[in-house]
Amino acid sequence: MTYDRPDLTIISSDVQPGSLRWRSPSNIALVKYWGKYGDQLPRNASVSFTLDGAATDTTLHYNVRKDHGQGVDVQLSLDGKLNEGFSTRTAKFFERLLPIYPFLKQLSFRIETNNSFPHSAGIASSASGMSALALCLVSLEEKLFEPFKDRAAFFHKASYLARLGSGSACRSVYGGAAVWGKVDGVPTSSEEYAVAVTEKLHPVFQTYHDDILLISKSEKSVSSRAGHGLMEGNPYAPARYAQANQRTNEMVEVLKRGDVERFGEILESEALTLHALMMSSQPPYVLIRPNTLAVIERLQEFRSSTGIPLYFTLDAGPNLHLLYPNVDAASVKRFIREQLLYFCEDQMYLADRVGKGPEQLEVSVSD
Ligand code: DP6
Repeated sequence: MTYDRPDLTIISSDVQPGSLRWRSPSNIALVKYWGKYGDQLPRNASVSFTLDGAATDTTLHYNVRKDHGQGVDVQLSLDGKLNEGFSTRTAKFFERLLPIYPFLKQLSFRIETNNSFPHSAGIASSASGMSALALCLVSLEEKLFEPFKDRAAFFHKASYLARLGSGSACRSVYGGAAVWGKVDGVPTSSEEYAVAVTEKLHPVFQTYHDDILLISKSEKSVSSRAGHGLMEGNPYAPARYAQANQRTNEMVEVLKRGDVERFGEILESEALTLHALMMSSQPPYVLIRPNTLAVIERLQEFRSSTGIPLYFTLDAGPNLHLLYPNVDAASVKRFIREQLLYFCEDQMYLADRVGKGPEQLEVSVSD
């Protein structure tokens, strides 16, 4: 399919300056996207929980451009400060969107963005940031042109645009759980955008917790972008892609069934497989830290001695996500406080849980 629309240009005298604002959460992959091809298409399917607390709040201010410049005109500030790096990255993203949204070069943009989590927490903000921005753009399209035929079409397009910014961002536009990539078990699934599988979520997973242990807040030595690239020469890649597709299908079934044990088995294997792929890339690299392993060991001991279905996952870094049912929250939080915080940088962790997805907000007066 294509979203290219050469007709989406504006008549400048018709457009008043305006602002749009969305808050969009981060997500944690249960089955990992690792490897891509073409224009940000995934080598395998993935499935994630959308989080609640870890989110980006983005306001997009737009105005008709007087200068008729060639490129796009974008300035982005993060937490109130103009950020050159993000401004350039966002301008590049807008340039890529020109076949879809030719009007982006007829307007000038000032973007204000804030993350709910500390900037230095070593938590990737691309999923929440890119999805918040994509939602602002799709809302802008509706404001300048015509409404989408339904909300599903609106969110599919937002997910498609978010994917072009950062692959994992396409899963953040829905609450609950989302699948990205083609799998037999989800007939509407696509490589081009994610789809919600929220209605298939068993009640136990609707209130699931995800506590994020900040083992290290340093910037990681190898970016996800570079990591995806290294999959191209990885000898295990074909077997990995087949495994991830099969596991995405199975995970959707597990989420429906409410099977917390099988959920945890797949979850932990996915985390370790992701890092094994990094260690078997050429050149190989290691992103987990000794404290990551120390926590994993204690967590597995805790699980076998208590029977509580507490399992971990990792993203492309040393920090651990601890996933568990709401009924076990008191015991797990005590365990984290008493035995795990010692291994975290500045004893920090972020308590999060499965969330309801992005929301559009009123633009505040100070904006
Ligand atoms: C390990 O979405 O950050 O978190 O598409 O290059 O922006 P780009 O990569 P990104 O990769 C995320 C990888 C992961 C797994 C996942 O979220 O599925």
